[in-house]
Amino acid sequence: MENLGKYRRTHYCGEITEVLAEQTVVAMGWVNRVRRLGQLIFVTLRDHTGLVQIAFDENTPTELFEKAESLKSEYVAAITGRVALRREKDINAEMATGKIEIMATDLVILSASEVPPFQVGDENVSDALRLKYRYLDLRRDKLQQNLRLRHAAALSTRNFLSQQGFTEIETPILTNSSPEGARDYLVPSRVHPGQFYALPQSPQILKQILMVGGFDKYFQITKCFRDEDLRADRQPEFTQIDIEQAFIDQEDIFTLTEGLVAQVFKDTIGVTLKTPFQRMPHKEAMERFGSDKPDLRFGMELVDISDTVAGSEFAVFQGALDAGGSVRGINAKGCGKYSRKQIDSLIEYVKTYRAKGLAWIQLTDGGEMKTTISKFFDEDKLQEIITAMGGKNGDLLLFCADKNDVVFDALGNLRCEIARREDLASPDVFKPLWVVEFPLLIWDEDDNRFYAVHHPFTAPMDEDFHLLDAAPEKTRSKTHDLIINGYETAGGSIRIHRQDMQQKLFEILGYSAERAHANFGHLMEALKFGAPPHGGIAFGLDRLVMLLCGTANIRDVIAFPKQQDGACPMTGAPNEVFPEQLAELKIKFDK
Ligand code: AMO
Ligand code: AMP
Repeated sequence: MENLGKYRRTHYCGEITEVLAEQTVVAMGWVNRVRRLGQLIFVTLRDHTGLVQIAFDENTPTELFEKAESLKSEYVAAITGRVALRREKDINAEMATGKIEIMATDLVILSASEVPPFQVGDENVSDALRLKYRYLDLRRDKLQQNLRLRHAAALSTRNFLSQQGFTEIETPILTNSSPEGARDYLVPSRVHPGQFYALPQSPQILKQILMVGGFDKYFQITKCFRDEDLRADRQPEFTQIDIEQAFIDQEDIFTLTEGLVAQVFKDTIGVTLKTPFQRMPHKEAMERFGSDKPDLRFGMELVDISDTVAGSEFAVFQGALDAGGSVRGINAKGCGKYSRKQIDSLIEYVKTYRAKGLAWIQLTDGGEMKTTISKFFDEDKLQEIITAMGGKNGDLLLFCADKNDVVFDALGNLRCEIARREDLASPDVFKPLWVVEFPLLIWDEDDNRFYAVHHPFTAPMDEDFHLLDAAPEKTRSKTHDLIINGYETAGGSIRIHRQDMQQKLFEILGYSAERAHANFGHLMEALKFGAPPHGGIAFGLDRLVMLLCGTANIRDVIAFPKQQDGACPMTGAPNEVFPEQLAELKIKFDK
C-alpha cells in the first residue's frame, strides 16, 4: 500500500466529462469493477458523485500495467491520467461520464480490500448482512444521496428558523421520564446506586420550561428515544425537529410550520408546496378515510351504508349494527376485474386489522353483478347500495361491518393497500394535511382509565372546556398533526400553561399525586412562576426525509439504523458488559 504523498484529487469521478477533454486529472475513490480485455484493462472508479472509466492500454508501461492488474473491487486508488473522448461506438449513454475515459498515466493503491460480502449497490442481499457491513452499503448511490439530502433538510430548517428569530437550545439526554406513550430507556447512575436517568422520549417538558424561562422561540434538532416495537417508519432512536413558542395560538403554529415545510421542500428537492395546507377535523378524517393520517393522493373514501342496510336478515351486518357499530364500504374503482383470488387476498389483508371479513359487490365491465350478499338483499336494495357507493361498471365495492374502530382501521388500511396494488399514489405528489380537533382523551377498556391522545400537557379546546367534567371523552383538544401522503410527519399542540388546569388533567388521567410529582414535579413547580401561554410542534426529521427521498423505509435515511429487534448488527449493540461495570453500578440481575 502507498501513501497519499503529493497526490491530491483534482476532480470527483462524476465531474469528469467531455468538457475536460485532453486535460490531466487525478481521481480518487473505490474500484467498482475491473475488466481485462486482452491488452486492455478497464477500471471503473467510484466516489459519491458517480463512476468514471479508466483505461490502461497497450502503451501503458509494464510496471503500471501490472499494478493495474492487481486492483480488485473496493480497493482504494488514486489515478492520474489524460481525459480522452471515447469513440462514438464506445459511448455509454447510461453514465454521466460515459463520453470519456481516463487514459491512466499513474496509479497509487491507497488501500486494499478483502473480497466484500456483497457487491456495493446489490440490493438483493439480506438486510442483516447489509446492516452488518453498513459501511459498504453506505457507498451505495441511493444512501449517499439520502444522507446528503438529510443534511440539506436539517440545514434548511436551521436557516429558516433562525431567520424567524428562533434560538436552537440543547436539552439533556440524561434526564428523567418524559412520557410520550412509549417505554423509557433507562441509564443506571453509578453515583446514585439504584437510581436511573431516562433518555428523553422528546424534549417536551424541558421545552415548556424554556418558555417559562423566557426563551419564547425555541427549536432543536435532537435525538429522541422510545422503547417501542419497530416498524418501517419507526426507530427506537430517531430525530425530531422540535419547536416551541410562547404568546401564540394554533394559527401561528400553522403559519410557521407551513413556511418551514415549504422552504425545506424547495431547498432540498425543488418542489413548491401550495400554502396554506388543507385542514380537517379528526372526526371527518376518520369518517372519510378511516384514519387520523389520511393519504389524500387518492380517493376511495369510506361510505356509511348503515342506514341503507339496516333491518336486513344478514347477521353479519345486523349484528354489527345491533352492537352499536356500523357498515361501511369503499369503492375500488376499476377493480371489478379482480379474480376471486385477488378479492380473497384483500379479505386476508383486512383480517390483520381485526376485521372478520369483507362483503363485496363486483360490477364487471360488461354490466354483470357478482356479490356475496345476494341472499340477503333484493335487487332494489342492492341497487340502492350500489348508488350510495357511486358504483359503476368495472368497480369493486367492499364492505366491512363491525365496531366503528375496527371498520375504520380495516377500511382505512384497505384503501391504502389497494392504492399500493393499483399504483394510485405517486411518490412525486405531495398532499399535506393538518388534522385538528383530536379528542383530548381516550378511554382504555383494559386499564380502566383515560389516556391522553397527544400527551398530558395538551390544552382542551376553549369551547369544550365545560365537557372536561361532564363528558371528558367528548372534549376536543388543541392538537395538530401534519400528515403528508399518509405519514404523520409532525405533531404538536397548544399546552396547558395553568398549574391548576394541569393538575386537573393529571387527576382525570388517574396519575397518583406521587407519580405526578415524580415525573412532572418540575413542570408543576415551573407553572407556578409565571408561565406564558405557549405551544409547539415536533417533526420526525427521519420521516420528513423519507418523504423527500421517496422511500418507505426509515433505515434508508439513517446512517446507522437498528434492525427489527432493535439490535445493531455492526456494533453488536446491545451487548453484555463486563462484570466490573455491573459491580460499579451495583447491578445484579437474573438471567
Ligand atoms: P409525537 O410523539 O407525535 O410528539 O412525535 C413527533 C413526531 O416524531 C416522529 N416520531 C418518530 N419517528 C421515528 N421513529 C419513532 N419511533 C417516532 N416516534 C415519533 C413522528 C411524530 O409526528 N413532544 C411532542 C411534540 C409536541 O407536542 O410538540 C411529540 O414528541 O413524525
Ligand atoms: P360468514 O357469515 O362468515 O360466512 O360470512 C358471509 C360473508 O360476509 C363472507 O363473504 C364474509 O367475507 C363476509 N363477512 C364476514 N364478516 C364480515 C364483516 N365483519 N364485515 C363484512 N363482511 C363480512
